Amino acid sequence: MPEHLDHYRGKTVLVTGGAGSIGSNLSRALAGLGATVIVLDDLSSAPPWNLPEDPSVLFVEGSVVDEARLDDVFQRGPSLVFHLAALFANQNSVDHPELDLTVNGMGTLRILQRSASAGVERFVFASSSSIYASDAALPLNERARSLLHETPYQITKVLGEMYCDYFHLHQGLDVVKPRLFNSYGPGEAPGRYRNVIPNFVHRAMSGLPLMVTGTGDETRDFTYVGDIVDGLLRLGFCPDASGHSVNLGSGRETRIADLAEAVNRLTGNGAGVHHRPRRDWDSKSRRCADISKAKSLAGYDPATSLEEGLERTVSWFRDNWDSIGPAVSGLNG
Ligand SMILES: NC(=O)c1ccc[n+]([C@@H]2O[C@H](COP(=O)([O-])OP(=O)(O)OC[C@H]3O[C@@H](n4cnc5c(N)ncnc54)[C@H](O)[C@@H]3O)[C@@H](O)[C@H]2O)c1
Repeated sequence: MPEHLDHYRGKTVLVTGGAGSIGSNLSRALAGLGATVIVLDDLSSAPPWNLPEDPSVLFVEGSVVDEARLDDVFQRGPSLVFHLAALFANQNSVDHPELDLTVNGMGTLRILQRSASAGVERFVFASSSSIYASDAALPLNERARSLLHETPYQITKVLGEMYCDYFHLHQGLDVVKPRLFNSYGPGEAPGRYRNVIPNFVHRAMSGLPLMVTGTGDETRDFTYVGDIVDGLLRLGFCPDASGHSVNLGSGRETRIADLAEAVNRLTGNGAGVHHRPRRDWDSKSRRCADISKAKSLAGYDPATSLEEGLERTVSWFRDNWDSIGPAVSGLNG
């Protein structure tokens, strides 16, 4: 087994947000590698049926800001922490800015404090590509940071990175800050605040037109969740990544119109697309990650093509259609 995977065998690993889209996949992978996984999640955005069913995964229901829950979790002695719990994402934070600051700001600070006191070996913070400015040069490089942000979510993701730097430089905590680009795949149910792909797939499987916000020429870097998990596992180990912010994307740029066409084709949906104006806060017309740092530091190599990832996503929707449910409100794509 490669060194970075063998690293997790026999370890106790805390995954906050471990019932969520990425966290559920990460927790399953860690359990498969021989780790004992503690999931701390308040189920505020994840359906309970998404929780990994594995005897090596212990579920603690509660919030990352709840000190009693944190006592419970840290008494179990995690030596590694993946902090994925968050109010997700931009539109949600525009609608609920105080909750965004509570969860993404205070929640991150509390998990960092506990991790530093407990002397954990490494703390991995799920940051976001949305912190890059709309006019940053493509492909987006880790150095292209901005202090001008369009949503509270972007502000609190930067805040989270800054707290990580503080704990790394002044409290002796080993941290890594992966910046994730548009994850998609099995484990992400559709919803008002979810990403475009699950909402497209849900509408397509319901025989409805896909709602494209903007012209369709906008682009994003869609990254299969299995590749994101692989990147997180690498960065949870890689000694050279200590203290770094590292992009985890696919390195490919996809037009939303092309994505919509692919989803309609794979699901046999003949209802086409409808266009809506772009969201007020969204001025980011093109996104594509420079993944050279993750490659050189950690050997990251996202191999899943968009077509293959979409096929697996559609297949997961078919398998879980009864749980996902035909009626999901507010899917504006
Ligand atoms: N999905 C993406 O495309 C993407 C892109 C960039 C960054 N990220 C970041 O990666 C992380 C995981 O993303 P995801 O797509 O799995 O999101 P998600 O919403 O599916 O998962 C987040 C989980 O956190 C839980 N949670 C929310 N508030 C909580 C609280 N106060 N206490 C405990 N648990 C709480 C939710 O119930 C959910 O299960 C997040 O931090 C997100 O900001 C995701």
